[in-house]
Amino acid sequence: MTVTIVGSQLGDEGKGALVDIWGGDADVVVRYQGGDNAGHTVVHDGTEYKLSLVPSGAIRGKTGVLGNGCVVNPRTLFSEIDDLRERGVDPDVRLARRAHVILPFHRVLDGIEEEVKSDSDLDAGTTGRGIGPTYEDKAGRRGVRVGDLLDPDVLRERLEYVVPQKRTLATEVYGLDLVDEHAEYAEAFDVEALFEEYSEIGRRLEREEMTVNAGEFLAEKRENGENLLFEGAQGTSIDIDHGIYPYVTSSNPTAGGACVGSGVGPSVIGRGEVVGVVKAYLSRVGTGPLPTELDGDEREEALADEIRERGGEFGTVTGRPRRIGWLDVPMLRHAARVNGFTGIGVNHVDVLAGLDEVKVGHAYELDGETTETMPTTTEEWARCEPVYREFEPWPEVDWNAVAEEGYDALPEAAREYLSYLSTEVGVPVYAVGIGPNREQTVVRENPFDLD
Ligand code: GDP
Ligand code: IMO
Ligand code: MG
Repeated sequence: MTVTIVGSQLGDEGKGALVDIWGGDADVVVRYQGGDNAGHTVVHDGTEYKLSLVPSGAIRGKTGVLGNGCVVNPRTLFSEIDDLRERGVDPDVRLARRAHVILPFHRVLDGIEEEVKSDSDLDAGTTGRGIGPTYEDKAGRRGVRVGDLLDPDVLRERLEYVVPQKRTLATEVYGLDLVDEHAEYAEAFDVEALFEEYSEIGRRLEREEMTVNAGEFLAEKRENGENLLFEGAQGTSIDIDHGIYPYVTSSNPTAGGACVGSGVGPSVIGRGEVVGVVKAYLSRVGTGPLPTELDGDEREEALADEIRERGGEFGTVTGRPRRIGWLDVPMLRHAARVNGFTGIGVNHVDVLAGLDEVKVGHAYELDGETTETMPTTTEEWARCEPVYREFEPWPEVDWNAVAEEGYDALPEAAREYLSYLSTEVGVPVYAVGIGPNREQTVVRENPFDLD
């Protein structure tokens, strides 16, 4: 049995929290794309874990796999594992030998290119983790893979090809002065320094027996009857194909990414459950248009501030305050179709409680026409005027009591909101998040029971 959990919006929908809950019934939790741009929060017994690379299920002692579709910064991975060990959690993390490695120059180039792009408003507001440049090298067939770290001859060969190119790009095209002004970056573009550090990383990976042939490893688990949970990072609207290009990440967070990014076939993943995680409003850490953004006037900005504070909407990875908007329903219809959702989990229902008004963008007005789907170009999306629907606001209640009593204990107005969402996306609501703690979730359905 497989369950795939995908972000339905712009990332940070609370995927980590739901992966943690349903991960209890999984044996293996698999990340299939992205890298340490992700920031997934799991709160257990009042202890908060912020994970970038280690799959969220590892907190529960599950085996975590970083699939071939991921880009892995080994420095981040080891520091995250070491931190968790210090906190008494010893995560069992396996790394696909086909996954690509984020090298220090990728981060440097990420920063420079964002700066250059910002002159033409094309910067995506990246996390600066080198994600885009690493996927570029993967597609350009000049990347370094995890398996290459295990073979010093291959590693040297790969570095000798790619590093001089990157150094030329940095110095000649972007004018980076590696001798003087930006001497701190010189090692990032130095074959010997890179070889030394990354061959040592290869030896550690081997010593700790961390690398696997992910597809084969997962097939064996399935043959033994084990449950696999695929943990998407980011979200559908920042998918490189289906998102608001170019303000996107460089991978496929959508459910199809789970197949190519793990080596488990689409017929297997398609026989399982695909659950969309929805935040009850919108948050955005990057740049680009956002039709339902609450930034029109002072009143809207005050409302956004209130939601931001109550929902703790500050980037897990970068600490940036997140932009806030009303729920965008065309975006959700798009996500339901692209991913083939079988159910949704709606988080942050508690955050909207007690507000004076609750609205959703039900449709758009675009060039005089009403449409219920997201347009294909981001420029058209920017021209969309939301057609709002108002909902009766729900009161603040004792959410812990609701969590104990179940769905029917939710305020009636909140249930109406959820039932509207379920109708619009055409699938049932499996879970409702009413607080950050593991216990503060109303679980109506466990997708692992829906075989
Ligand atoms: P992810 O990237 O999708 O895993 O989400 P993040 O962890 O970046 O952001 C979600 C934030 O909301 C975290 O701080 C969670 O602890 C918190 N959270 C998750 N679900 C809920 C919820 O239902 N209510 C509230 N108030 N917070 C939640
Ligand atoms: P999780 O998994 C929200 C955004 C960045 C930027 C764009 C490209 O926690 O939901 P990148 O560094 O990936 O090249 O940046 O994507 N972004 C995210 N936004 N949540 C995330 O991850 C994100 N990962 C990347 O802000 O706009
Ligand atoms: Mg996040």
